[in-house]
Order: sequence, then structure tokens, then C-alpha cells
Amino acid sequence: MKKIALTGIKPTGILHIGNYFGAIKPALALSADYDARYFIADYHALNTVKDAKELSGLIRQVAAGWLAAGLDPERVIFYRQSAIPETFELSTALMAFTGKGLMNRAHAYKAAVQANTGKADDPDAGVNMGLFTYPVLMAADIILFDSDVVPVGKDQVQHVEMAQDIAQAVNFNYKAEVLKVPQAAVQESVAVVPGLDGRKMSKSYGNTIPLFAPEKDLRKLIMRIVTNSQGVEEPKDPETSQIFLLYKLFATADEQAALAARYREGGMGWGVAKEELFRVVNRELTPLREKFNAIMADPKALDETLAQGAEKARRIAGQTISRLRKAAGID
Ligand code: TRP
Repeated sequence: MKKIALTGIKPTGILHIGNYFGAIKPALALSADYDARYFIADYHALNTVKDAKELSGLIRQVAAGWLAAGLDPERVIFYRQSAIPETFELSTALMAFTGKGLMNRAHAYKAAVQANTGKADDPDAGVNMGLFTYPVLMAADIILFDSDVVPVGKDQVQHVEMAQDIAQAVNFNYKAEVLKVPQAAVQESVAVVPGLDGRKMSKSYGNTIPLFAPEKDLRKLIMRIVTNSQGVEEPKDPETSQIFLLYKLFATADEQAALAARYREGGMGWGVAKEELFRVVNRELTPLREKFNAIMADPKALDETLAQGAEKARRIAGQTISRLRKAAGID
């Protein structure tokens, strides 16, 4: 039997090229070898996205984005967290096994407290219980589906470790393997995608290239990439140029070698390098964009796909909940 891989996708921003190389592509590659369960963590997003229209738009766009990028809902169980009521039941049960002290140590909560203390504010100013108990809901997401591995970025490893602690606390209490203890799978080799300003591409820096930007906007964004003041004639170093680092993600080995040679020879200005970059980015993203637009144009079909995923997911979830209720004497 294949091992189970599960990951959650928080719909707090539209997908960009950094998400594509950092999360989407690695997760889709992993889904070939695992029994994969990928879901839209909409109740996690509610902690920060409080505008209803914005949240419902993001849920759709992010779901459509993963499908457009190649997620096959016949092979991957793909659903919305909010469609699985068992998640919230399990989360409540896990609360009884989660020390408050454990939550006090969560990085995101600690960072919020530190920022408040720095401003001589109340330490818990602006912290809602959703943020404070975020790791418990995430543990429920993971444990509910008997996950073996959880592919995540480095920033989420602590959360997976907390899920381990919580599952172990349950098993220890009932002296039985009631819940499966998950492992984090960190994608170390994933390239850091540079943003328009040269820093890591991230929504919080406002330096992203959206994955499904219309062709015209895509071109404009690429033309806005910050460069140094080297003139056209000067030889240039490809490895320190964010244009080239982005190019490497999209171009073939031959194309990379050819452009690197033009950098080193001199005689090529930044504008020309950007045109080359646009050509390869647009070549890869055009089919994705077309698929994304087609999915977004048929919201009923998208809802149906997610509902079918939720149905499959709930069958698994129900079994975990019965196991736990029985162990706990709430059957
Ligand atoms: N916390 C994750 C993030 O911010 C999203 C998430 C929610 C998740 N539930 C999960 C990831 C379960 C892995 C497993 O990116």
C-alpha cells in the first residue's frame, strides 16, 4: 500500500511563480508516489482574511490554480477543509490533549507577542484564538487522514512536530495506536525564486509575478524587474542576475547556456535579457493560464470537483473519528 501524503494550502493570496516552484510543482511530483490528499485550508485563512468576498474569491482561485497546474482530482483527493466537519470535531477533541504551554511556544504566536511587547502594547493585542490554536486545527487536518508525510516549507515544520506531540499524547493516554503520528517532509532542494526586487518572491514583499497574469501584465511585470546600472556593452554575470535566475526555472539547458554566453560576451542590455525571460515564462504559463481561465469560467464544475473530493475525504475522516470516540468513551 502506498504511504499517505497530505498538505494544506492556505488561500490567503493569489498564486504566484514562487508558489508554483516552491509548493505546487514539488507537491504534484510527490503525488505520483503517494496516496495524496491536498486541501484548501479555508478556515485557517479566516484568521486573517475577514472580507467575505475576498475569501470566497481566493478559495476559488487557489483551487482552480492547483487544478490548472496539473493536480488530477481522480488521483489526488482534493477538497475544502470547510467541507469536512470531522476536522472540527477532531480539533475539539485534540484540544483536551494539547497543553496551553505548547501553543505559547508556536513561532507565529510568539512573533505576534514579541511585536506587541516591542511596541509596549498588550502582549496579546490583535491575537485571536484562531491564531493561538492554529496548530491544533492543523494537527486535526493532518491526523484525521492518517497522514504519513506532510510536505511543507521550513516555516511549517514546528506545526507538524506539534501534531506529532498531540497524536502521541492521545496514544499514550489510551495505551493504543489510536492516531497515526505524522512526519514532516521538507523540500530542501527547492529553488528560491527571486522576486521583482531581487528578494525572495513573497506576497508580503509585494514583489510577486502572479501565475495567471494576463500576457500583457506578465510582460509589464517582467520589464519592471530591478537591474543594476551596467551598460549594454558591459559583460555581465548571469549568476548574480535575478533575470537569469528566473530564466533558469523556465528555460532548457541549451537555452540557459546560450543566454549565459550572451551575458558574458557583453553587448546585451537588460531590456533584451528581459525579453528573453518573458518569452520562456510565457511559453510555460500560457497553457496554464488558459486552463485556469476555463476552470474559473465554470464555477459549478469547480464546486462539483471539490464536492466529490470532500465525499471521498469524509469516508476516511469518519473512520478516524469513530476510532477516537471509541477510545475516548464517547461512542
Ligand atoms: N499552515 C499551513 C500554511 O500556512 C497550511 C496548512 C493548514 C497545512 N493545515 C495544514 C499544511 C495541514 C500541511 C498540513 O501553509
